[in-house]
Amino acid sequence: MGPRTGEPLTAAPWWKQAVFYQIYPRSFADSDGDGIGDLAGIRSHLADLAWLGVDALWVSPFYRSPMTDFGYDVSDYCAVDPLFGNLDDFDALLASAHALGLKVIIDWVPNHTSDRHPWFVDARSDRSSGHRNWYVWRDGRPGGEPPNNWVAAFDLSAPSWTFDELTGQWYLHLFESTQPDLNWDEPAVVDAMHEVLRFWLDRGVDGFRADVIHGIGKDPDLPDDPGPVAGIPHCALNDVPVTHERLRDIRALIDGYPGDRVIVGEVFLLSTATVATYYGHDDELHLAFNFPPLFAPWQQHPWTDCIEQAYGALEPRDAWPTWVLSNHDNPRHRTRYDFAAALRREDESTRAARSEARARAAAVLLLTLRGTPFLYQGEELGLLDAVIPAERRVDPGGRDGCRAPIPWDGAADHGWPTAAGVEPWLPFPPESDHRNHHDQRDDNGSILHLYRRLIALRHRSPALTLGAFDLLETPEGVLGYRRTLDDDAYTVLINFTGEGVAVHTTGTMGRHGDGSGPAAGMRVEVSTTGSGEGQAFDGWLAADQVVLLRP
Ligand code: NOJ
Ligand code: MG
Repeated sequence: MGPRTGEPLTAAPWWKQAVFYQIYPRSFADSDGDGIGDLAGIRSHLADLAWLGVDALWVSPFYRSPMTDFGYDVSDYCAVDPLFGNLDDFDALLASAHALGLKVIIDWVPNHTSDRHPWFVDARSDRSSGHRNWYVWRDGRPGGEPPNNWVAAFDLSAPSWTFDELTGQWYLHLFESTQPDLNWDEPAVVDAMHEVLRFWLDRGVDGFRADVIHGIGKDPDLPDDPGPVAGIPHCALNDVPVTHERLRDIRALIDGYPGDRVIVGEVFLLSTATVATYYGHDDELHLAFNFPPLFAPWQQHPWTDCIEQAYGALEPRDAWPTWVLSNHDNPRHRTRYDFAAALRREDESTRAARSEARARAAAVLLLTLRGTPFLYQGEELGLLDAVIPAERRVDPGGRDGCRAPIPWDGAADHGWPTAAGVEPWLPFPPESDHRNHHDQRDDNGSILHLYRRLIALRHRSPALTLGAFDLLETPEGVLGYRRTLDDDAYTVLINFTGEGVAVHTTGTMGRHGDGSGPAAGMRVEVSTTGSGEGQAFDGWLAADQVVLLRP
């Protein structure tokens, strides 16, 4: 085996070479039987993640919170919510992760606090309170209308303003009314939020995933969103120059710490070209999430467009891409792809087989693109979203399905033993009796083993980790690309269709006119159907098949 966890291939920063794994703490693993995952639960499964081969964990919020947005409503940035444990549990988790060679980044939620944060409690107590200007307050428009037409996330009929009876003004919230936006024009807010970064950097975290980071600057005039986009949640539109200044200060703070700490920003703007500006000139975010692939259907052309747009926007800036198929805010990709028309037409058993095949195909895509991949817990098991009965729905944004607990084994409790009468906070995903960590680990042919092999392959291949990316000319329905670095080279061919396709292995299909077909003289290193591995590639892709080839 070549280099693995903690041993980057080259001098490039570790986060360009790492495979990240997102942990949603409520749903990962529970240590105390209350049916809610916690920090000690995460710690007890670190060895499983090291076995999988990922390099870095992103842990979603575990801070003190009233949990109206399940932790993205923070009431104390420097304390662990008792549901998840305490600071000692965090320190133990970090130490154990580091001992296994795993880096840990944590969520930082700088755009808004909880309405129960002491800062906001004070701010709303009186117009002259010391924290009043830490939030965004305005008088309403005549007729009791909110100050502008901005719409909040989740509920498109809701303004992003709430009227505060006691002090007679409106406060801004791009998300729920329980999540008032901080006012980053107030220097004391900047200081306080920088202090939060230092608190965790001093504890040894390897960096941050910054929530809604493009929200920390607002147009000082708070103008109405213009006609064509009015009605789209303002958080998907907010893009103002002052944010970049603030990001440069944040970056300088983080870079001031030893050991290559990283900040990955959630810039929820749907144009990749705009997202690219948040890397600055290597002086703002180290990495930014790019969301179009998270919404792209499983089809050749939308994926080709996503790839070309990402590389086209980022490469001129020397900015390093990221790739995400699933996260805690959206239906899992396997679920999304299943609902697409192509599979809805199939009979039950064909549909199940194609669904699994596409989950495997997507794994190869994610782990062979140029850029840092982020896995979402459970995708390595090929999990589907849970079906949540109406009486168990808890999230205002309707995101419960992808937040179902991880099934660790095939026992009735799936590794979540709870006290009598207590159930895990959400139901398990479908198929958990066999689609669970334990059973898949016993089965070399499982999707879990495919993820593990792909991660290991990526780690020992300079081409797959850092190499150039070139699209190949391919038949309709097939995406092909080559990754190369010096004499290391791989070719990936992805059949997005439900039909077999012939791919020329000779001829002049190489985009760069080098006279060789995309698969000339190649050997099959990985095949998602398992067939043909170790043999010369015969030029035939079965339905939904992906092959990873090398010369
Ligand atoms: C993005 C987070 O991913 C999401 O879960 C949260 O609801 C919003 N930001 C608000 O913090
Ligand atoms: Mg618990």
